[in-house]
Amino acid sequence: MITFEGVTKRYPDGTVALDDVSLECPTGKITVFVGTSGGGKTTALRTINRMVEPTGGRVLIDGRDVRDSRPAELRRGIGYVIQHAGLFPHRTIEDNIATVPYLLRWNKKKARETARELMERVGLDPGMAGRYPFQLSGGQQQRVGVARALAADPPVMLMDEPFSAVDPVVRGELQAEFLRLQAELHKTIVFVTHDIDEAIKLGDRIAVFRTGGKLVQVASPQELLSRPADDFVAGFIGHDRGIRRLSFIPAAEAPLTERDVLTAATPVATARAAGDWVLVVGEDRRPLGWAATGALPADGVLGEARLAPIGHTFTVGTDSVRAALDAAILSPSGRAVGVDGDGRLVGVADQHDLSAAITAAVNAAPEPADTEPADTEPAAVAEPADGLAPVDPVPVDGPEPGEPAPAEPASKDGVPD
Ligand SMILES: Nc1ncnc2c1ncn2[C@@H]1O[C@H](COP(=O)(O)OP(=O)(O)OP(=O)(O)O)[C@@H](O)[C@H]1O
Ligand SMILES: [Mg+2]
Repeated sequence: MITFEGVTKRYPDGTVALDDVSLECPTGKITVFVGTSGGGKTTALRTINRMVEPTGGRVLIDGRDVRDSRPAELRRGIGYVIQHAGLFPHRTIEDNIATVPYLLRWNKKKARETARELMERVGLDPGMAGRYPFQLSGGQQQRVGVARALAADPPVMLMDEPFSAVDPVVRGELQAEFLRLQAELHKTIVFVTHDIDEAIKLGDRIAVFRTGGKLVQVASPQELLSRPADDFVAGFIGHDRGIRRLSFIPAAEAPLTERDVLTAATPVATARAAGDWVLVVGEDRRPLGWAATGALPADGVLGEARLAPIGHTFTVGTDSVRAALDAAILSPSGRAVGVDGDGRLVGVADQHDLSAAITAAVNAAPEPADTEPADTEPAAVAEPADGLAPVDPVPVDGPEPGEPAPAEPASKDGVPD
């Protein structure tokens, strides 16, 4: 667990970048820092690996003051990922990824093997290992940045807007990949973003900062959406707050029916007695399409009639009411088709059923408990440098707080021969 105890950062020019911030970032979870530009998010992140030294208060990793470790040692257990990846342009992809293993004096073969394994892990073709960063797309470079931060398997990862420089589609892919990785790795992650949607999607906990380095709220995504602490937080979340909350209500809470569900072998004469729309399913209960009962042929079976496409379905065990509602709105019948993990029908929900489920879930929402998981894990530690430009980790000791990190390592390129 990373603990901020009354952390303040006041620069010599009087700027207060952090104002008495107290906060806990639980072990194995993703804590997202979000808020206005200049609100102190990056500053807060950098107090964890001592790239910024607070002027008041302290930062602890698993109960140990970060100042008790030398910066270089500390950073070896803390992966660091920044916007634009910050790769070393003159190094190949595998050598970029192996940066910290090289610093730790791993043998070169093992370091490069690890680099290639990590490439696969973050969804990159290991065939690209010998390329240089300029030969990769922005999204691929970000993946390299994540792989590099993971290389020495640090328990803690600091990520400063790692996905903000890529287009929305690539960004969505990176986010999904990141969540998949975290489900395997359970790192203690602090993730900075401007984007409230990204915060809600990725965060186990969200810390909202505002100008002046003030921490205004720390909450789970659900709590943040249902109970913003003040008008600033409500405004920051935006006007879709209600709709976003639906993402946290399981679709399974909506009542599902089998009304007007018929198999493809059903005679149209039987189907005509049903409602306006009939959901036609196969023998294996896979949904085939919607049949408008008013437009059925004179005879034959439903399977021979022209069916309107289902559009998208929702998965009952895993999807939210938001997904179900979206499916219902886009469905020709106004009803959403719920399926199991194999795509077989579980039941159908109309918009009225969904809205009843939403009302029930919202009314039943418990008061948020301000619980803090008490689990701990061995402390983490360290890596590079400044977030602004490609910067090598510093082999001996990191830059002192307040000093710019060197743009090049002391050794020629840090890669052993
Ligand atoms: N070396 C410095 N000297 C003086 N002020 C500084 C220094 N570094 C940062 N600041 C100020 O500290 C405040 C917080 O900056 P910080 O970079 O932490 O904000 P941020 O929340 O990460 O913003 P953004 O979302 O734009 O990245 C800003 O007002 C910034 O100008
Ligand atoms: Mg920042």
